[in-house]
Amino acid sequence: MCGIVGAVARHDVLDNLIDGLNRLEYRGYDSAGVALVCDDKRVQRLRAVGKVAVLEEEISVKRPVGHIGVAHTRWATHGQPSVRNCHPHMSGTDLALVHNGIIENHTELRTELEADGYEFTSDTDTEVIVHLIHRVLPDSNTLRDAVASAVERLEGAYAIGVIHASSPDTIVAARHGSPLIIGLGDDGNYLASDQMALSSITDRFIYLEEGDLAEIQVDRILIHSRQGEVANRQVHRFSPGALSIDKGHYNHFMHKEIHEQARVMTDVLEGRLAEAHVPDAVFGVDAAALFDRAQHIQIIACGTSYHAGMVARYWLEEHAGIPCQVEIASEYRYRTPAVLPHTLIVTVSQSGETADTLAALRNLKDHPNCCGSLSICNVAGSSLIRESDLCLLTHAGPEIGVASTKAFTSQLVAFQLLTAVVGRRHAMTPQAERGLVLQLRELPALVQHVLLLDERIRNHAGTFADKNHTLFLGRGVHYPIAMEGALKLKEISYIHAEAYAAGELKHGPLALVDEEMPVVALVPVDGLFDKMKSNLQEVQARKGSMLLIASENACLEDLKPKSVIRLPDVPEFLAPVIYTIPLQLLSYHVALIKGTNVDQPRNLAKAVTVE
Ligand code: AGP
Repeated sequence: MCGIVGAVARHDVLDNLIDGLNRLEYRGYDSAGVALVCDDKRVQRLRAVGKVAVLEEEISVKRPVGHIGVAHTRWATHGQPSVRNCHPHMSGTDLALVHNGIIENHTELRTELEADGYEFTSDTDTEVIVHLIHRVLPDSNTLRDAVASAVERLEGAYAIGVIHASSPDTIVAARHGSPLIIGLGDDGNYLASDQMALSSITDRFIYLEEGDLAEIQVDRILIHSRQGEVANRQVHRFSPGALSIDKGHYNHFMHKEIHEQARVMTDVLEGRLAEAHVPDAVFGVDAAALFDRAQHIQIIACGTSYHAGMVARYWLEEHAGIPCQVEIASEYRYRTPAVLPHTLIVTVSQSGETADTLAALRNLKDHPNCCGSLSICNVAGSSLIRESDLCLLTHAGPEIGVASTKAFTSQLVAFQLLTAVVGRRHAMTPQAERGLVLQLRELPALVQHVLLLDERIRNHAGTFADKNHTLFLGRGVHYPIAMEGALKLKEISYIHAEAYAAGELKHGPLALVDEEMPVVALVPVDGLFDKMKSNLQEVQARKGSMLLIASENACLEDLKPKSVIRLPDVPEFLAPVIYTIPLQLLSYHVALIKGTNVDQPRNLAKAVTVE
């Protein structure tokens, strides 16, 4: 997704801007650009299609020098990836702007601006913003006033950074629907889409809130709220470790992040398990009263986070005894749901900035039947956390690979904690809660054990690399884990992968099964083990080639499988976490063989901050 960096400092800021763009690469992008008000008071802009390294090559030929500038990585929404569509966009020769988001009324604004004589040089929705600002500048006292007036015309989502040759000491920034932060440095101040971009410069950040307009100068930051009042926003501090983004000895962030999961299990549980229960306060000071009121849970999320929510529904209904529904945010936000009385909304998100999830929360939280909202999220200070009543941070650390791995397993653990606190108020006995806590303490060691299978799983990857399709099968709580496995494979190896609840096979997908269709099946020994085996016999009878990911004590002789990965026999409650890991490793190794871009797969972005 698009990334913004801005800098105003006592020194030349070009290196800061480029460093910030490199740190935002993980978000996904197709082109990059930079503009500075140079020391001769002129705006210089350089743009390039492709990686930031291509832009750097251009810079090495013609290096602009300046103390103030904005930069951008673009993920195409309106208009192809091309130099003309790259940000920064300019109006005239003095005004430059970077934008993240989508302007929904851009066609109407473009017609109006063209009638006023503005010539458009791109196919983007963004360009209308810079011309709108340009049009009102002559009648405005300051650049801030001009931006304030221009954004009033915008419908949609935006985070913007604006510079003007006549205001060479000020970046004006505004946000509505897309995230934006200010970094406080010793020698200047900075602007970015997220704190990762500025992690080499500062550990002090201000999160702009919806409707905020900020003037950023070397030694002064002035923020106005949507209502036009001066706003004092809190400064948040992060330890440098929390923002560390190196690959260590791994070749890819995804591989490193898979292998971090034992540590992540420890971190997400740290301080959250009492002797025999999960304290309410883990979810915040007001958690107990809110959980007391909740009679129904509505989980809302996208992608991998949605799969975590699907797993949670099995746990919340079976172990906690509370009715639970799960829905994809992009659907939920446009439905008119019949909300049950005393509904607790639970949103799940790695980034906390996913546009659909945020919109669904905003639509629902004022509903009279909602008793409160909880976000399960990995990014402290994100919009989702700030807009929810309660939050549980998943403490997975920065996740750079676009394919979500450690964020997913940490979300599962967060839901296990939620199952305990909600369960205590419904169907879960103190003994059951105690048992659950004891099991959770074993989780980091079990995850570590499964990670040792990396090499063995690599040996199975070759079977998939030359295939165009794969089926993933699971039953019960392992059905969403199969869905997550299929999503991992398709997003990084571009192999079409579908997940089915194994009982559904005979209702259609069995027609696809032959020697050419690899089938990955999750076979823990649980209450559905025999049912699963029957389903696999249906596959075997059609000569489907199976890779079974099975418990070490699963008796599978009658299936005569050629390929089995054995996992330790673990408690049913922990199994979804354990069975996820081989699927992550499998997709990683298949992608390696295929030579795809593992960390930044084509067409995808890390944080989907637009619709
Ligand atoms: C999965 O690997 C993807 N990165 C994607 O499905 C992701 O989970 C989805 O876009 C939701 O993101 P979020 O967790 O940041 O809200």
